[in-house]
Amino acid sequence: MFKSLLVPIDGSDYALKALEVASQMVAAEGMLYLLTVRELLPPLHEHGAMSVEAAIHAASPEAAEKEGRALLDKAGETIAAYPGEVQTLIRMGSPARVIVKEADRLGVDAIVMGSRGLSDISGLIVGSVSHKVTHIANCMVISVHTKLDQAALTDDES
Ligand SMILES: Nc1ncnc2c1ncn2[C@@H]1O[C@H](COP(=O)(O)OP(=O)(O)O)[C@@H](O)[C@H]1O
Ligand SMILES: [Mg+2]
Repeated sequence: MFKSLLVPIDGSDYALKALEVASQMVAAEGMLYLLTVRELLPPLHEHGAMSVEAAIHAASPEAAEKEGRALLDKAGETIAAYPGEVQTLIRMGSPARVIVKEADRLGVDAIVMGSRGLSDISGLIVGSVSHKVTHIANCMVISVHTKLDQAALTDDES
């Protein structure tokens, strides 16, 4: 069993599926770290066309922090039954680099992440963040691949 796992959360159902799997892999007395990395200028393909007002809002650290907190709260609710400790982290920067840096700092046994995320670029099997983390991480990386309809854990958005 794993003593500590880092689960990167981007608000996608893929990441929630990875979190569910991680909560089953980690020891009951273990530690789950939930990390979301906010980019002050997020990739356009994840947000579609944005108004100038929306872009300015998205670029404020306060808004990024609030958005990150909401994602982590929602993710935490999906593993409410997990008896071990859960710690949440919000960081700013380039997602893949920050994920690897935090994994090193925390000394986790593995990173457990979704194979895909929020981008709607169809045809890709592995997303760019997932791909990069797999290449540059210094610890084990477990990529959880699911079809989108299998990934959906909640029905409140459908
Ligand atoms: N900004 C982020 N913060 C934390 N985790 C992230 C972030 N972006 C992606 N991830 C993690 O990487 C996984 C794969 O996402 P990604 O590679 O971005 O795919 P896509 O290109 O489909 O968006 C997600 O399921 C999530 O676990
Ligand atoms: Mg993405």
